[in-house]
Amino acid sequence: MYVCLCQGVTDGQIREAIYEGCCSYRDVRQALGVGTQCGKCASQAKQVTRETLAKL
Ligand code: FES
Repeated sequence: MYVCLCQGVTDGQIREAIYEGCCSYRDVRQALGVGTQCGKCASQAKQVTRETLAKL
């Protein structure tokens, strides 16, 4: 499912980025560009990040 339409980032890509070493929303944003345009996806992207980190 797409979380960020502006950058075409899916929840799967966010998870993958975390498995590959991102350990905060800031890291995810830097790695994938999620939330760097309109910003509408930020809260959902943060939630996916939080949920994924909580399961590690
Ligand atoms: Fe993510 Fe616009 S939908 S920056």
